[in-house]
Amino acid sequence: MKHYAVFGSPIAHSQSPRIHAAFAKQAGIAMDYVAIEADLDHFAGALAASGVAGANITLPLKEAAFALCNGRVSARAQRAGAVNTLLRDAHGWRGDNTDGLGLVRDLTERHGLDLRQRRVLLLGAGGAARGVAPALLDAGIHSLYVVNRSPARAEALVDASGEPDRAHARAWDALPTMGEFDLLINATSASRGGSLPALPMALAGPRSTAVDLSYGEAAVPFLAWARAAGCQHAIDGLGMLVEQAAESFALWHGQRPETDAVFADLSGRSDALRTAD
Ligand code: ATR
Repeated sequence: MKHYAVFGSPIAHSQSPRIHAAFAKQAGIAMDYVAIEADLDHFAGALAASGVAGANITLPLKEAAFALCNGRVSARAQRAGAVNTLLRDAHGWRGDNTDGLGLVRDLTERHGLDLRQRRVLLLGAGGAARGVAPALLDAGIHSLYVVNRSPARAEALVDASGEPDRAHARAWDALPTMGEFDLLINATSASRGGSLPALPMALAGPRSTAVDLSYGEAAVPFLAWARAAGCQHAIDGLGMLVEQAAESFALWHGQRPETDAVFADLSGRSDALRTAD
């Protein structure tokens, strides 16, 4: 039986083991998948000791996973500078990044959004933001405005996108002058550690969609802001999580699982968790 795992910190509440167990059952594949807590200092050692054939990587390890592949990464991982999926072969680790495709699939197929010609605001420029920016541009959005607490990181993300006409870096204090967006994405880790700086209500309107790449409690503050600002849709990252997992599963096992039942099961649980709080 092959072994798989998700590495990150914190990792205790990860839904990935549950998702991959459900996919494996659906596909009739015997495998196990566990969550392994590892910080940056211990990641390489924990990965080597785990004996896994493949792994998902979450924060804060996506850039470290990219480095560990020594250039053996997919084009989309290269553009993101971050790896969320590792595959072991005879030569070592290969890296891919399924986050962007996971987000785009969730928005277009599950939520029925048309991303073409949309004006998009991306808050954050860390690993999560870099994972989704290329896929959004590939999906045909009109423009991508990247706003980050450290402006240099937003500029680096925009430069790496290779799309000077469509991608733009802006400072956080420019937000009040930036007008309304069709799609607003929170890719910061602010709600997990501290709190998201105040956002002007004028960024969103009744046709806007807001997405937080986190799920559960971490997504609550931004999505509450989005509802207060009048957004039509406020979507957390659970669907993206399931879709990126399905893409990883397909890379490892050669078949893409059906995601709707797994998503329905998990969202039922996360609603229950939220109301219990
Ligand atoms: P991840 O893999 O989740 O993207 P990361 O690479 O550490 O994690 O990036 C975290 C992102 O959240 C960054 O964009 C960070 O901004 P900086 O680049 O300026 O550090 C952003 N972030 C974290 N805490 C924040 C806060 N309190 N306010 C605004 N942005 C915050």
